Amino acid sequence: MRPKFSAPADGRRSSRPGSAAARANITRLPTAGQPRIAILGAGGFIGSHLVPALALRPGARIVAVDVVFDKLPPGLPGVERVQASIRDSGFLDAITARADIVISLTAMCNPALYNTRPLEVIDASYTDLVPLVKLCAERKRRLIHLSTCEVYGRRALRADGRPSRCMDEDRTALCLGPIHRERWTYAAAKQLLERVIWAYGRHHGLEFTVVRPFNVIGPRMDFIPGVDGQGIPRVLATFMHALLTGQDLVLVDGGRQRRSFLYVDEFVNALLHIVDRPELCQGQIINLGNDKNDVSIRTLARKMASAFRAQRPNARAPRLRTQTAAEFYGAGYEDSIVRIPSMAKAARLLDWRPNMTLAQMLPPIVADYLARYESRVAGDPRARAIAPGLP
Ligand code: UGA
Repeated sequence: MRPKFSAPADGRRSSRPGSAAARANITRLPTAGQPRIAILGAGGFIGSHLVPALALRPGARIVAVDVVFDKLPPGLPGVERVQASIRDSGFLDAITARADIVISLTAMCNPALYNTRPLEVIDASYTDLVPLVKLCAERKRRLIHLSTCEVYGRRALRADGRPSRCMDEDRTALCLGPIHRERWTYAAAKQLLERVIWAYGRHHGLEFTVVRPFNVIGPRMDFIPGVDGQGIPRVLATFMHALLTGQDLVLVDGGRQRRSFLYVDEFVNALLHIVDRPELCQGQIINLGNDKNDVSIRTLARKMASAFRAQRPNARAPRLRTQTAAEFYGAGYEDSIVRIPSMAKAARLLDWRPNMTLAQMLPPIVADYLARYESRVAGDPRARAIAPGLP
């Protein structure tokens, strides 16, 4: 068994990406004692939930790495922040020299980018991470890598090409669209990295677990366009933006496509089980999702609209409007039609079964977006003009 967490960690310094200070921060980490967990991409949506959950554990020693930390509360016990990019020269070398476990969360995880910035998407999901995999293998570090349900592609298919209901980690065929459908750049890059990880595991002794998250949602997901980001975020934040500004909720191609939504706290809980079960999870690819929350995007829009109206009864009644995928995302987009995870492996290995319904998760999510964005969106005269119900 791997040792559990014990002694508390120290400072919370940050420094500029790539700077000598950033590397120095890493080399100052204590070298003896309990496992150190480096979290790459710690300042993003998932990291902002995972790092505080790990920090609650007695004696946690976490190195939280990212370029920005806006979403991560400061002063968490046992958490050292390192402001750096995984692309900084020498950085991956330094972090894998010191961490016992590396959890890799970095990616450009947003379908609006897959066909508009495909080369950056491929680099972020594949090229930049191959050195990490090699270093973890060489140094015998445990790698917990977050891949994606996108690797399954358009829908669940059996080996003989017939459709099946659920996406199974070890049986379902991976069905991506043609090359000119650039939407699949992300899935292809993620899939290839999974294959690299697998090969290092099988042939070079890499200790790894690959996680495939299925539409994890929660507070702090993505950004609100024009406030803390530009462009099109994923559907939850896009709908929240529309609700906050009184605009129509846009259903791409009518919103008949389906997703299975998992609440971020339950997701993080499963990740903690993976951290704690190295032997059981060794060499495994694990879906983390909730098959009970399989809904169409149209249904999601309706449920989000009612959750919003429950907290802002005076806001204008939201309207739904359809747009084609080509209009919304541009050329090269193609959708996953339905995505339902097989839950069996996660239940067996992690003794984990999520149970939060959309009706339970949406109110706290709406409350979080209202608290963080309402005044900033309402301060925009254009938003006030189209959303008279906003205070
Ligand atoms: C994305 C990522 O590509 C996945 O890797 C990731 O696992 C997943 O999000 C996630 O959140 O976990 P996808 O579900 O296609 O995949 O991304 P969303 O932007 O959340 O879109 C969901 C669906 O809503 C798509 O069918 C999209 O066309 C639709 N949509 C999106 C709308 O109908 N209206 C919008 O305003 C935005």
